[in-house]
Amino acid sequence: MTPVTSRILTGDSRNLLTSIQSESVQCCVTSPPYWGLRDYDHPAQIGSEPSPVEYVRNLTEVFREVRRALRKDGTLWLNVGDGYARNGGTGNCGPNAVVANTKKLIQRRNCKVPDCWGLKDRDLMGLPWRVAFALQEDGWILRSRITWIKKTAMPESVRNRPTNATEDVFLMTKTITYYYDASAVREPTGANLRNCWAIGPDTNGSSGHPAAFPRDLARRCILLGSRPGDVILDPFAGSGTTGAAARELERESILIELNPEYSKISKRRMGHVVQARLGS
Ligand SMILES: C[S@@+](CC[C@H](N)C(=O)[O-])C[C@H]1O[C@@H](n2cnc3c(N)ncnc32)[C@H](O)[C@@H]1O
Repeated sequence: MTPVTSRILTGDSRNLLTSIQSESVQCCVTSPPYWGLRDYDHPAQIGSEPSPVEYVRNLTEVFREVRRALRKDGTLWLNVGDGYARNGGTGNCGPNAVVANTKKLIQRRNCKVPDCWGLKDRDLMGLPWRVAFALQEDGWILRSRITWIKKTAMPESVRNRPTNATEDVFLMTKTITYYYDASAVREPTGANLRNCWAIGPDTNGSSGHPAAFPRDLARRCILLGSRPGDVILDPFAGSGTTGAAARELERESILIELNPEYSKISKRRMGHVVQARLGS
């Protein structure tokens, strides 16, 4: 196996992305915090903005820098989750669930319907598409919406709508001639890969992060969007799933994460890494 390097940067993506050389990254695979869902216990966290409008604006800012860092033929694979506007309670299930690490700050916010987009109580906010449209307006080309079918979805005790069991992954590019290896992942029949991917949780146990995505999800995006030796970026790295998949596939990686505890998990998962700490 060719040795590959990973840089794990701990701090706010909005500051640290500027240190990445322009047009040096082939592929960005990432899942930002979902709005109002979890508290990552840091004043600079994205996802805890008082309004989802600000959340969309913050993500647009982050991905503008990602676009600068991407090679001309690079790709962005963006997984974003949705949530419901709520009035008078957070409930104990569904996208606004009170989960183990959700603190009062976020619970309070979810008790009031945000005053934007004509939202009403119980409205699905459509956040993934709102983010996708904002990025499109900011210059990205939106090439595909992949539906990630969660083989083991979180149960919800709802009786007036179907249980949510999918999430979106957007494929976005900088130009119309981008690198995409259609032979890297095929349907079992040999046909071109479809835009619905049934992927279950990692079989080798939890990464220790409350919102890690499956390694297979990251692996697929990396295989389709890069060659061995290329640089893969995750500006919301969490426990470093993207980095772990990149390393396995002999790609270099740059991981940015705000919470130093999660960076420690990445470091452990990556084995040998070149770690850089640039502020927090
Ligand atoms: C959905 S999680 C990513 C999980 C990751 N895909 C994994 O598999 O472990 C989002 C991460 O973004 C981090 N985060 C939040 N705001 C950030 C910011 N401004 N800059 C960098 N990271 C941030 C959170 O601490 C959290 O770990």
